[in-house]
Amino acid sequence: MQLIDGKNTAAEIKAEIAEKVAARKAAGKKQPHLAAILVGHDGGSESYVANKIKACEECGFRSSLIRFESTEEAPLQEKTLLEAIARLNADPDVDGFIVQLPLPRHIDEQRIIEAIDPAKDVDGFHPTNVGRQSIGLPCFHSATPYGIMELLRRYGISPRGKQVVIVGRSNIVGKPLAAMMMQKGSDADATVTVCHSATPNLADVTRRADILVCAMGRPGFISADMVKDGATVIDVGTTRVPDATRKSGWRLRGDVDFDTVAPKCSFITPVPGGVGPMTIVSLMRNTLIAAEQRD
Ligand code: GUN
Repeated sequence: MQLIDGKNTAAEIKAEIAEKVAARKAAGKKQPHLAAILVGHDGGSESYVANKIKACEECGFRSSLIRFESTEEAPLQEKTLLEAIARLNADPDVDGFIVQLPLPRHIDEQRIIEAIDPAKDVDGFHPTNVGRQSIGLPCFHSATPYGIMELLRRYGISPRGKQVVIVGRSNIVGKPLAAMMMQKGSDADATVTVCHSATPNLADVTRRADILVCAMGRPGFISADMVKDGATVIDVGTTRVPDATRKSGWRLRGDVDFDTVAPKCSFITPVPGGVGPMTIVSLMRNTLIAAEQRD
């Protein structure tokens, strides 16, 4: 069993990006600039955004954080958020931006995503980017699947001709990853099955996987009997579970029961330190592309 080290791979890619940014600077080109909108104070979102800002520093990017408060007594107006998006769309200094999800329930998330200029949508969530990606056109790729494809590529694990099973059909992981894996091309060319909560006999399907991607957000759900000997297992789950031994009182747990599944695998990603750092680095790759397109 070999551990797929997403943290180390992400550090390598950040160093490569930083070199490109230094070369841009030497050529008199502008520093890439990523902006993030954060609503409220959700612990997970706060830490994701803090990690994205730190990654910007490591890559030599400029970053801006735009915060909005939203409470039950004073909920953020959707109009205020749409106005902030319009300002970022129009700002020539900003190459790309993200609106950290989830948003408070009273805000229409899809309307917010569709207000983002697709040319600045470095999360790759706008239907224009989703549609272009699904038919293999140049676009901003959704960060988590893009990170998974790059991790496999750098570990020499080709999906070509393999049975790839994805558990979870979210718009930001399962669906775009299925599209990438089935794409024609030497980095993809997989036979893809997507499972979800209505899939009967889930274990019968997951046991057929040469590459099993677990992205349903159910900590420890994937047990050893659901995994074929020698499979590659990619764990996208990152759920905070109570842990009294930690000062914070919680730790991150993946969807895979790592201790029992890992001995059966040829390759497996840990949580934390697997897919998570690759998601952030994919956002950096997209932001660099956005800056290059605006040169
Ligand atoms: N919330 C969880 N993952 C993501 C992500 O990749 N982008 C944004 N904007 N919000 C998220």
